[in-house]
Amino acid sequence: MAKLPIIVAPDSRLKQTSAPVGRVDKAVRKLMDDMLETMYGAVGVGLAAPQVGKLKRVIVLDVAREGEEKRPLRLADPEIVAASDEDATFEEGCLSLPQYYAEVVRPRSVTVRYRDYGDTVREITAEGLFGTVLQHEIDHLDGILFVDHISALKRNMILRKLLKAKKARALEEAEA
Ligand code: NI
Repeated sequence: MAKLPIIVAPDSRLKQTSAPVGRVDKAVRKLMDDMLETMYGAVGVGLAAPQVGKLKRVIVLDVAREGEEKRPLRLADPEIVAASDEDATFEEGCLSLPQYYAEVVRPRSVTVRYRDYGDTVREITAEGLFGTVLQHEIDHLDGILFVDHISALKRNMILRKLLKAKKARALEEAEA
């Protein structure tokens, strides 16, 4: 396994639509494993392939709490096949928007169909934090970030600050 660099917004690669993998083969499994290692290394609860520069419909997540046994999930070609009418609000963050958080309203529960690590088609129904993380990661596959669900004012403020931080880092690197 290998840790991969995580792309930070604003970046056009985070705004693309990712392509289905169709079948979970050795290369997809390797990507899933590398993504999980990257996610755990960054202390995140979810990661989508476009965040590491791969425009493939692959996500990984683990919503186990600190101290609990790890519960990694690897999903290819995830698709929301049902969503509850009832909504839930969670404070969301993202490894591609470090240090920024906002409350996002989404369906309280969703049913997702996907291909697992062994290329078997499965369905899971998830609610609460689990359901929110699943929806957040699937959004990434369509170029949608959690800030796209909040007001334009707040979104632009966050993206401007991230851009400023990015420019400062680039300048530091150029001077180093
Ligand atoms: Ni994210």
